Amino acid sequence: MTEGPTTDTLTVRDNRTGTEYEIAITDGHIRAADLKQISIEGGDPLATYDPGFVNTAACRSAVTYIDGDAGVLEYRGYPIEQLAENSTYLEVAYLLLNGELPNSAQLDTWVHEVTNHTFVHENMKNLMHAFRYNAHPMGMLQSSVSAMSTFYPEAINFTDPEVRQLQITRMIAKVPTLGAWAFRHSQGKPYVYPDNDLSYAENFLAMLFKMSEPKYEADPRLVKALEVLFILHADHEQNCSANAVRSVGSSGVDPYSAVAAGIGALYGPLHGGANEAVLRMLRRIKTTDNIGDFIEGVKAGKEKLMGFGHRVYKNYDPRAKIIKKATDEVFEVTGKNPLLDIATELEKIALEDEYFVKRKLYPNVDFYSGLIYEALQFPPEMFTVLFAIPRTSGWLAQWQEMVGDSDQKIARPKQVYIGERTRDYVPMNQR
Ligand code: CMC
Repeated sequence: MTEGPTTDTLTVRDNRTGTEYEIAITDGHIRAADLKQISIEGGDPLATYDPGFVNTAACRSAVTYIDGDAGVLEYRGYPIEQLAENSTYLEVAYLLLNGELPNSAQLDTWVHEVTNHTFVHENMKNLMHAFRYNAHPMGMLQSSVSAMSTFYPEAINFTDPEVRQLQITRMIAKVPTLGAWAFRHSQGKPYVYPDNDLSYAENFLAMLFKMSEPKYEADPRLVKALEVLFILHADHEQNCSANAVRSVGSSGVDPYSAVAAGIGALYGPLHGGANEAVLRMLRRIKTTDNIGDFIEGVKAGKEKLMGFGHRVYKNYDPRAKIIKKATDEVFEVTGKNPLLDIATELEKIALEDEYFVKRKLYPNVDFYSGLIYEALQFPPEMFTVLFAIPRTSGWLAQWQEMVGDSDQKIARPKQVYIGERTRDYVPMNQR
């Protein structure tokens, strides 16, 4: 059980006027709006300036908890390690969306509903076909999710719980189909329809890799690895893309448009794409003999050790530990990626080196995930799609929480205006 709010106060003295104000502290936060009472005559009320929200909470949330110093990640209070070990992705998606693990009947119903919605409208194929042969699959995924709002115009009535639930089910069910078709498009291969006899992860693999065989059969160890990767990527509280979904969703737009905004945010290299850079780095290092020189270059500031460091985690990213274990299982099936030896040795050296220790730089989720994706035969452009598919459940859990939160308003930050003030228009011939 989560504890109720704890309330205390903060006394602020405005040295411009000598006035003191008492501001409530609730759950370790003050409300920025409470600072509005602080002002000087003729001036604007006091406000905070916080680019990138580095110390501003934009919501109260009960979905995901992170303790970056301790390396803890929990969905609805359940440690990520236990979920990765025991759960399936759809069970975790249910947990994120509903707050509790499903019982067996609830899980059966949920899996049945998702499985029933895996097909997309046939016109979606035409939309996909319209993309250039080398279109980036993330751009294709974003556009097709956005286009879904036109296929399901009733989605705008999401305040009706039934309508809302249907859109959530549809989106979670259809993103693997759209992601797989984007991949097939780039390969010039025919799109594969969903096979509803298969599990969520198996079906995704079938839509990606099936050729002329009547039934696609994936190695269960690879299916398990994909499930684990999906679980690890399902949510990560108020990151850039979750914030984009909430911000766009706060205008009251339909959930497809809000999630499409999240996909756009994830597409950016600062958010979704470091695992590709890790692969490039490992290839460049080539052999373990070159690691010493490489580390010296990093310490001299020539480049970064990609896949290391995190804004929130100042300890081993708990997801990286789980992925590292999964690499062994995947390589048992696919054969070892020779880059693994370089990655393992690099990690060992970095974790002992004072430069990294002092700065609390540890492997993050991207350090090993690219190696697995490559072993599963994904080209680097697909890596971010593999992130977006499971993150859809997290985005929708965040969106759903937002639309049910009476504290929330349309996102509309303030600015500190630093430009010119009122001046007369200058005719062209006088400029
Ligand atoms: N290699 C070498 N030095 C580093 C690294 C690194 N990977 N990361 C941080 N540092 C140094 C940085 O130069 C700085 O040193 P100094 O204090 O001497 O100036 C110090 O550590 C603190 O770094 P910072 O840049 O202030 O930290 P940040 O919180 O702003 O940046 C980060 C976090 C993830 C952007 C950064 O660690 C980084 O660029 N890492 C490599 C890229 C990467 O792996 N990104 C994936 C992040 S996990 C995916 C996700 O959750 O979205």
